[in-house]
Amino acid sequence: MRPTELIDAAFHDHAEMHAVLERLRAAVGSTDRELAHSLLGQLLMIEARHYATEEALMRAVAYADADEHRREHAAMLDTLTRIVETVALENLASISPQIVAHLESALAHMMDTDHRLNRFASASAR
Ligand SMILES: [Fe+2]
Ligand SMILES: [Fe+2]
Repeated sequence: MRPTELIDAAFHDHAEMHAVLERLRAAVGSTDRELAHSLLGQLLMIEARHYATEEALMRAVAYADADEHRREHAAMLDTLTRIVETVALENLASISPQIVAHLESALAHMMDTDHRLNRFASASAR
């Protein structure tokens, strides 16, 4: 994909992630473990695909802060993978603070780290 296509794909992923994050926040509040588990599985799939897209974009535009950005992706995927494994085994109420913390860090990453990448990539892809 060309940089402009990667920028568009990342933008659409963010909208999709926002929708799942909101549904997940509601599911955690309702302590519906089956629903939370299914949404966490969806989120893991979307995040894994999305981070690969952004990492391809960073390579395509030779982004200087790529290593730090990739580290944040790896940390979030690692946390989310452990949450998905744990929620299958444990009471949702005991793990929900970790889920909420992941939602907060994923949103903060989109608003800060991704915003900087998007500004740089949009300027250099023009
Ligand atoms: Fe992103
Ligand atoms: Fe990112």
